[in-house]
Amino acid sequence: MVCLGNICRSPLAEGILKSKVDPNKVFVDSAGTGHWHIGDQPDIRSIEVAQKHNVDITNQRGRLFTQEDFLEFDHIFVMDNSNKENVLRLCQEQNNKNKVRLILDELYPGENVDVPDPYYGGEQGFENVYQMLDQACDKIAKRFKF
Ligand code: 4NP
Repeated sequence: MVCLGNICRSPLAEGILKSKVDPNKVFVDSAGTGHWHIGDQPDIRSIEVAQKHNVDITNQRGRLFTQEDFLEFDHIFVMDNSNKENVLRLCQEQNNKNKVRLILDELYPGENVDVPDPYYGGEQGFENVYQMLDQACDKIAKRFKF
């Protein structure tokens, strides 16, 4: 799960998908393409909206997305088109490029829909993001039979 800061959207996506899969079978992680929040806990508003839905993301810490992630992971879900550009820029191999998908393609295939960055907005934005990611992660968990 990849976003820009790895403190708002992708930590939620990580926590939500983890809550829907068998941790012995699937390794879920998140990262950001920006360096500002390396080592940071998720944004308090993400922590709170997750808590409201019984998902605990307090143990997560921000980390940078790296080229090695293309080798480690089978699927790379990005939150928006700009994350997608940032991630693809790090990748030469077509096989690995094919691992990268907009997470909302799960709900709106081919419509190119972004998960909006809630960072500069209010709490409602975080609830909206939570609901989108919850639906998308449901699809992912079922589609891949995770
Ligand atoms: P995220 O939101 O990509 O959903 O984690 C952001 C958080 C922080 C910043 C940008 C986006 N920032 O510029 O610090």
